[in-house]
Amino acid sequence: MTLSVHGGNDTGGPSIRTPITMANSYHLPPEPEKLDWSDPNHLIYTRNTGANQVALQRKLALMEGGEDALALASGVAALHAVYFTFLATGDHIIVSDTTYEATWKLWTQLLPRKYGIEATFVDITDLEAVRAAIRPTTKMITAEVIANPTTKVADVAALAGIAHEVGALLVIDSTFTPPPLYRPLAAGADLVIHSLTKYINGHGDAMGGAVIGAAELVSKVKAEAMVDVGGVISPFNAWLICRGSITLPLRLTQHQATALSLARLLESDDRIAYVAYPGLASHPQHELAARQLGGRGFGGMMAFALRGDPATQNRFVSHLRVITSAVSLGHDESLIVHVGTDGPRVAAYPEGFREYGHLRFSVGLEDADDLAADLHQALDRTFDGESTSAAAIFAG
Ligand SMILES: Cc1ncc(COP(=O)(O)O)c(C=O)c1O
Repeated sequence: MTLSVHGGNDTGGPSIRTPITMANSYHLPPEPEKLDWSDPNHLIYTRNTGANQVALQRKLALMEGGEDALALASGVAALHAVYFTFLATGDHIIVSDTTYEATWKLWTQLLPRKYGIEATFVDITDLEAVRAAIRPTTKMITAEVIANPTTKVADVAALAGIAHEVGALLVIDSTFTPPPLYRPLAAGADLVIHSLTKYINGHGDAMGGAVIGAAELVSKVKAEAMVDVGGVISPFNAWLICRGSITLPLRLTQHQATALSLARLLESDDRIAYVAYPGLASHPQHELAARQLGGRGFGGMMAFALRGDPATQNRFVSHLRVITSAVSLGHDESLIVHVGTDGPRVAAYPEGFREYGHLRFSVGLEDADDLAADLHQALDRTFDGESTSAAAIFAG
């Protein structure tokens, strides 16, 4: 908690809080011709580096236990920046077969076609399959600690071992498992990526992305994929994310406790087809998740479906009064999104996801009892009719 409160908050000025510096440019030194204009560590121009970006980067590096960090405009900007920096035509990457949609799109469609980088999708939980996918040109392995949306769990230390045997980088998207829940660098990952838009900001009001790791690697990303590609974070968003991150450990505690209780509640209901949550003993990688996350929790994300067709899932969502139907995750408010069974991505999903589709549920900070009541009343109304007002639920 102390790092979250004090990290990066070195103002150097009279105030005890970091001010927002809404400036595109900074005073140049007396001999500007001697400046290295491409050095991303100088305050020259906000596309190179801004004061609030530096404060956020310092904080993120401390929180993840990395030497350096880079903050960018979104999580996707961070993903692309890493691929763009370390991969070139003819290289090969191994990608988990369940990933966030944009990662999947980048590796099935855009980067192979535009840059000629080859990608192999593998079940990241099958370490022999990962090993078998290695080629002489393999330069990177990438996975999410807990995958969006299936909640499949990657064994980061084992993947680091495989990557490092062949001199490849292990790049881990830890958006579902922010610090202090998990720190992939300590388990051997070379670079950690976050969508700051999610838990780290936590309030659903600013987008950002981060790359964290050894200074040598992060500097390369700054130089090649920020200054000359341009996906910088705005000073205001960097400030908001720094501020939001102060309460991250407290928020995580609440997200996780509520998520576990709701996952158990849903799993015990006959009207629910399946619940995918790493904290449940029924999850295929429950033991790995418990070991890897060291008893600190299992995150706030789950997926489930009702026993019914897509119209049933939509009817259920329409009856929810506290939980909001919207994309994104890791916000203060609970968010749910219904995803169907169509599309090529779904082929790699577990059986329940393929049969019923899924409701991706980001458990928010509302009282657990209110969320449980909301789920219950929406289930009752889905199968029996009738609707309830939010006031009636809150009154309970
Ligand atoms: C695991 C994961 N990585 C990356 C991203 C992309 O983040 P952003 O929306 O900030 O670009 C998301 C977004 O949902 C995500 O869930």
